[in-house]
Amino acid sequence: MGTDGRPEGAVKLDLLFSPLQVGPMTVPNRICETTNTIGAGRLDFLADDVYTEHHVQKARGGVGWIGGEAWILPAPIPDEAPQELTDGGFAIRIPAYYMPGFVERLRSFVDAVHEAGSVAVCQIGHGNVLFGPSAVPLLGSQHFVPHELDDDEMEWIISSFADAAEQLVAAGADAIEVHASHETLPHFFLSPATNRRTDRWGGDTEARTRFVVEILRRVRDRIGDTAAVGVRVSGGEYRPGGYDLLEAQEIAGYIAEGARPDFFSVDVGHLWGDPTYVAPSYAPPALGAAHAKEIRRIVAPIPVLYAGRVFDPLLAEQLLAEGACDLVGMTRASIADPEFPNKAREGRFDEIRACIGCNRCIDNAVHGVGTGLANVMQRAMCSVNPVIGNELLWRASYRPAETRRRVVVVGAGAAGLEAARVAAMRGHEVIVLERSGNIGGQVRLASLAPGRDQFANLPTYYQTQIKLLSIDLRLGVDCDAEAVRALSPDVVICATGSIPLAPEIPGVDGPNVHQAWDVLEGTCSVGHRVVVLSQEDGMETPSVADALASRGHEVEVFHHWAGIAGNVGRYAIATVLRRLEAGGVKTHAYQRAVRIDRDRVELVSSLTGFSSVVEGVDSVVLSCGSRPATDLYRALKGTAPEIHLVGAAWAPRGIHEATEMGMLVGLAL
Ligand SMILES: Cc1cc2nc3c(=O)[nH]c(=O)nc-3n(C[C@H](O)[C@H](O)[C@H](O)COP(=O)(O)O)c2cc1C
Ligand code: SF4
Repeated sequence: MGTDGRPEGAVKLDLLFSPLQVGPMTVPNRICETTNTIGAGRLDFLADDVYTEHHVQKARGGVGWIGGEAWILPAPIPDEAPQELTDGGFAIRIPAYYMPGFVERLRSFVDAVHEAGSVAVCQIGHGNVLFGPSAVPLLGSQHFVPHELDDDEMEWIISSFADAAEQLVAAGADAIEVHASHETLPHFFLSPATNRRTDRWGGDTEARTRFVVEILRRVRDRIGDTAAVGVRVSGGEYRPGGYDLLEAQEIAGYIAEGARPDFFSVDVGHLWGDPTYVAPSYAPPALGAAHAKEIRRIVAPIPVLYAGRVFDPLLAEQLLAEGACDLVGMTRASIADPEFPNKAREGRFDEIRACIGCNRCIDNAVHGVGTGLANVMQRAMCSVNPVIGNELLWRASYRPAETRRRVVVVGAGAAGLEAARVAAMRGHEVIVLERSGNIGGQVRLASLAPGRDQFANLPTYYQTQIKLLSIDLRLGVDCDAEAVRALSPDVVICATGSIPLAPEIPGVDGPNVHQAWDVLEGTCSVGHRVVVLSQEDGMETPSVADALASRGHEVEVFHHWAGIAGNVGRYAIATVLRRLEAGGVKTHAYQRAVRIDRDRVELVSSLTGFSSVVEGVDSVVLSCGSRPATDLYRALKGTAPEIHLVGAAWAPRGIHEATEMGMLVGLAL
């Protein structure tokens, strides 16, 4: 061990692990979980065990700043008007902090954060689209026109920030963060796109900043120096009519001068934008750090936190060294691996389970099975870390196996590898058989598409785990039931993946027809003019179209339903579509092929049956999803002592479903 408590020879992360005074709050290091309303617990709207365990695991893992989830403020909704709970926002009458038990329940959360050595930063936000500074569409892509606030209503709202802050501080919060980014109400005041007022709250930049300054002053007046008071602002909106970095600097300057906050938290982007502030794998690392740096210059010496695609502790250290910021948001990094700071500190970089930038966490929180606090079906989840959303279950059921058993896993995709990992961690003897020469299955395939190379982080992580856990990985083994039985397994886990589907139409077996997977893999030869027949609504179609376009092909996509990538969430869709537009890819909705010939494709409308023909086609690429590969499972069922079917072999879904199922089977053995 070195004198600093780190292993000799460990990479220096001196700045990252140095404390920082932020107003009255001492942050133990520079790694921040910025607020992320992922939907962990709070089913009765209050902090509960699920919420606490989800966020506090990060504090135990070494994250210094725990931002938890947003506390939504009330809105002055008239009795006659309905509350609004949309995927644009929440206009609610009764906030959580008015509920009995709020302070006590939040205090146990804050205590747990403190016990782990971190600080609890509570964000208060007015994320609604029912009220706005002006009656203009607020979000751009979604046509929400708000009620225009009058002075009384604004006063009511400003006081609600102070009321909320008082309650949060009573529960022990170390800092209050006023959310004035991400299309929250204060942000709508800052933005020229949404604030068209001509009174003292609108007009020039200084006037548009007044609402935020007033909120911060009122919060400070109410809580004094009992906690730090900060503000989250966009360093560049990237939306039509929005403000740019230059104006962001002006805004920050007015806020610094008018309200002297203890910190600024800066990011860039728009919720339907390119970039968004939860930017997917396509965006460059630390995409808005230059904006944070310029704002930091203006507001110095007030500390600035930057967040946005910083997944690597070494990059975080570099940002601090370059003066881009004083604190680094590493929010998805800490969802993917809540223990990453401790691992980095100990030099165990290759053990970090890195975020792949897939955005499943935020998509589920926003669109998913529910929408935020409005729907009890919503839950926290992460594609690469299946413990997320299952923290209490993991704590209750993870233990060393009572009897060491021989577990044979067939298939080294995400489900099989997670099952293998958990089984091996628990002490079982694990053999993994994989037909191909690589691990990672469809995740590896996804990583071959342009802008998605980060998906390879997951197989890379499993490769390290295979070594650390002495898992016996056998590549290039195309085994049948007999071969599996010959290994005398106590348990067989069939993670045999899925097989690409093809429409049952004449010509589909022709030499000019290829599967998207083979195109991504580069194992087929495709002509210049390509028709993609798409019958899936996720990332397969845009990925293969993007790959083809970037290799110089002329690409036309015929999609079975309304628009391609219908299941791709708002934080990625603009980036995905822009890439296709830039590559000249043409897309057509509601189209199904009925016949493929040597150089033409016949189509019908999925809705009306109207026929059309595309001529001059060199190749046809199928992107139609896949069906479970269950032959081995059926052959073994009844003869293997214990057998499980997991992942896409059970039902083709997302990476999250695969890793979660793998984990659950691994825990059950
Ligand atoms: C699931 C999820 C929920 C989020 N909810 C909020 C929120 O309620 N308030 C907020 O200010 N930011 C929210 N964010 C944005 C994060 O604070 C952060 O700025 C963003 O994830 C980019 O940082 P990263 O690249 O380190 O993840 C959320 C992000 C995620 C992934
Ligand atoms: S769901 Fe995807 S984007 Fe979100 S933390 Fe996990 S790997 Fe990262």
